Amino acid sequence: MGKVLNLAGEPVRNATVEVWQANAHGRYTHPSDTNPAPLDPNFEGSAVLKTDSDGRYRFKTIKPAAYPAGPNLIRPAHIHMQVTGRQDRLVTQMYFAGDPYNATDPFLNSAGRKELLITKLLDPTSEFEPDSKIVGFDIVLYKG
Ligand SMILES: [Fe+2]
Repeated sequence: MGKVLNLAGEPVRNATVEVWQANAHGRYTHPSDTNPAPLDPNFEGSAVLKTDSDGRYRFKTIKPAAYPAGPNLIRPAHIHMQVTGRQDRLVTQMYFAGDPYNATDPFLNSAGRKELLITKLLDPTSEFEPDSKIVGFDIVLYKG
C-alpha cells in the first residue's frame, strides 16, 4: 500500500496503478514466460487499481519468488508497477529487503537511489490478517 504523490507532496487522485508479478514459484501467468516453474491456478498475477481521493492505493497479494531471466541472471523477487497520473507516467519495480539477488540485479542496480525501491515486510496492524505482512511503497510522479 502507499500513496501516489507529486513532487510537492500532494496526492495524485484517480491515478491508475497497474501491478504485475510472478507467483510464489517465480512464474508469470503469461504465455511468453518460459520458466518451467509451476503456474498457480488461483493466482492471476496482475491488477489495475485507481488511487482514492487521498492518492492512496492498496492491494493484497502473495510475495513473488525470484526467477531465472537468462543464463547468468536470477531476478530478485519484485513487483512491477506502471503508474499513470494526469500528466506523468512512471514504470518501476518494487523489491524486498534481504533478497540475496538484490545485490547483483542489473535493473535494481541501475536505479539512481535503489534504496527507495527496496521495501521491508512489516507486521500487520489489527485491521489486517494476523499472519499477513504489510509493505509501504509511496510513488512520486513529477507533476502528477
Ligand atoms: Fe519481473
